[in-house]
This record gives sequence, C-alpha cells and structure tokens, in this order.
Amino acid sequence: MRRIAFWSPKGGVGKTTLALNFAAAAYYAGYKVLVCDLDPQQSAVSVFSEKNLPFPVIANRPQVVPYVDFLICDYAPSLENLPIEETIVQPMRASVLDLNAIARATRLIRDKRVIKCVNGVDTRRHEERVMAMKLYSEGAHLIKDRSIYVKSLTRGETVFQQKAYGSREAQNEINRLLERVIKPSNVSQAS
Ligand SMILES: Nc1ncnc2c1ncn2[C@@H]1O[C@H](COP(=O)(O)OP(=O)(O)OP(=O)(O)O)[C@@H](O)[C@H]1O
Ligand SMILES: [Mg+2]
Repeated sequence: MRRIAFWSPKGGVGKTTLALNFAAAAYYAGYKVLVCDLDPQQSAVSVFSEKNLPFPVIANRPQVVPYVDFLICDYAPSLENLPIEETIVQPMRASVLDLNAIARATRLIRDKRVIKCVNGVDTRRHEERVMAMKLYSEGAHLIKDRSIYVKSLTRGETVFQQKAYGSREAQNEINRLLERVIKPSNVSQAS
C-alpha cells in the first residue's frame, strides 16, 4: 500500500483538487484507492457527497485501514498537523510568498519523500512562468491553471470524468504525477 499526503502549510494551493484528481488517476489506472479527508473544512467529503466520484472519500483516517493500493490523505493547511505518510505531494503556487512558506516548512518534513507540485500555473504571466520553469528544473511537477479543475469539482467530479476542452491535457498532467509517485527514483527529496 502506498500512503500519500497532499500537504502544504499554505491554504488554497490545490491540496484537495490534486488529491481527488490524483485518486481518480490511480482509480482509472486500475488501482484501489481510498481518500481520507483530514481537513476540518471537509471539502473532499463534500465533493464526494455529490455521489459522482467512483472512489470513496472518508472523514478522518480510519482506525483499521482496509487494503487499498493508494491511501490518499488530504491535509488542512497547517504547520502543527504534519503529515505522517512516507510520500508527500506538496502543492504550491509559483509565487515568492509560497516559496518562503515552503522553505520554512521544508525542515519539518526532511525525513520524507517530497514531490513539490507547482499548481495553477498561468504561463501567460511572465514572472510566474519564469518561477515555474525554475522550480521545474529543480524537480518540481507542474500543473497548469485550467478551468476544467474548477468545473469538474463543482459537479462533484474529477477531470477524468470530463470530455470538455482542456480535460485531456489535465488528465495527462495528473497521470504524470501518478507516474512520479509510482516510480520513487524520480522523486525529489526535501533538503
Ligand atoms: N490547477 C488549477 N487550475 C485552476 N484552478 C485550480 C487549480 N487547482 C486548484 N484550483 C482552484 O483553486 C481553489 C483552491 O483549491 P483547493 O481547495 O484544492 O486548495 P486547498 O489547498 O485544498 O485549499 P485549503 O487550504 O482551503 O484546503 C479552488 O477553487 C480550486 O478549484
Ligand atoms: Mg483543501
């Protein structure tokens, strides 16, 4: 079983969006997945309650974990509640404010395998593009700013359940994130 945390000290960076879409990528690749919503806001649970997701989302971590291939934990933005899973997907925005917050948090998760994920990248904005490319060259994964992420969750679904413009590209970038998690040799270590 792989246990993956979607964690960041920053709020609103895409933890829930990426956790649910990552779960969908794994589900449609044939894996058994369970998402645990560890955020008191219960955003992932509220998406699940629309009854359109093909995999379960539960509140909190179960006392007895059923056998699944991926246990995916969606964390609240906090420096107090640190992830216990061995692999952390750490979403962030291509912004100097996020870089500073992430730098402060890095020492707290030094013993973990961390995949930095620059999310919501708008390549039309010069500074954002330059920063995203720098982080990419340092090993971060990139997810673009796409309205399909917003639209699909509004319907209680993921981008893997969409056929609209941008959904194929979104599926591809989430599938690449899944590949990185599955192949540990490609994963960058927090320093
Ligand atoms: N790649 C993306 N493209 C466009 N919009 C996005 C993308 N990723 C996330 N969003 C939007 O950004 C907002 C914040 O995303 P989300 O709720 O997943 O962040 P979060 O880190 O889980 O927030 P919180 O810290 O409150 O739990 C949502 O409106 C979501 O639809
Ligand atoms: Mg969230």
